[in-house]
Amino acid sequence: MASPQQLLAVVDTIGTEPPYSYAPGEIDPAVRWLPGLLRDGGKLKVAYVDDDPVGYFLALPLPAYGKLAELADQLASNPMGALYVAELGVAAAHRHQGIALKLARASLSEEPAEQEWVVRTLAINSPAIALYQRLGFRLLDRPRQLHRGRERVFLVRSPPGSNAVRSTHRGDAAAVPW
Ligand SMILES: CC(C)(COP(=O)(O)OP(=O)(O)OC[C@H]1O[C@@H](n2cnc3c(N)ncnc32)[C@H](O)[C@@H]1OP(=O)(O)O)[C@@H](O)C(=O)NCCC(=O)NCCS
Repeated sequence: MASPQQLLAVVDTIGTEPPYSYAPGEIDPAVRWLPGLLRDGGKLKVAYVDDDPVGYFLALPLPAYGKLAELADQLASNPMGALYVAELGVAAAHRHQGIALKLARASLSEEPAEQEWVVRTLAINSPAIALYQRLGFRLLDRPRQLHRGRERVFLVRSPPGSNAVRSTHRGDAAAVPW
């Protein structure tokens, strides 16, 4: 039977690897912040292989996440109702098997079609950006953030036909159907 510690270890390990590559002690271990995200209304999905946790997807209400309060109006037409993908990761040995896609699709499908979603990732994280785009998220030109010297970008998934949050890319206004 998997223990919460096993999942926390997977989260911490992923933080030490590319694209994050945090040095030991550079950021708090997951045990310090992941339980808080769950207490704040986070919904966690975990993928297992042979009873071992190998992947996770965690989303919570954007207002509960709190750290994006100043940008919320730029990210969602209804910031109070938007969901924020706070965590997604798959252990390196289990990537490219569709695990992240499956986890994300399971979570997205539990919410109504009109649900707005927001996610932030590193600008260099092309695997994650490709994954989110495949799920119908749109990469925004703005806002962007600089964090520990690295640029972060946002992707949003809005209901079909919604123009509330537009990418500034020309010709990208058409909603991606899902
Ligand atoms: C991003 C991540 C979660 C993808 O997990 P995964 O289980 O390997 O992804 P999947 O196998 O479900 O891939 C689904 C789709 O995502 C895209 N994708 C995933 N990895 C990719 C890569 N290395 N390069 C380009 N596209 C990629 C592809 O569209 C892929 O579909 P395909 O396999 O048919 O080409 C994983 O690489 C990871 O944990 N990275 C480190 C943590 C991280 O960056 N998390 C994102 C936080 S915002």
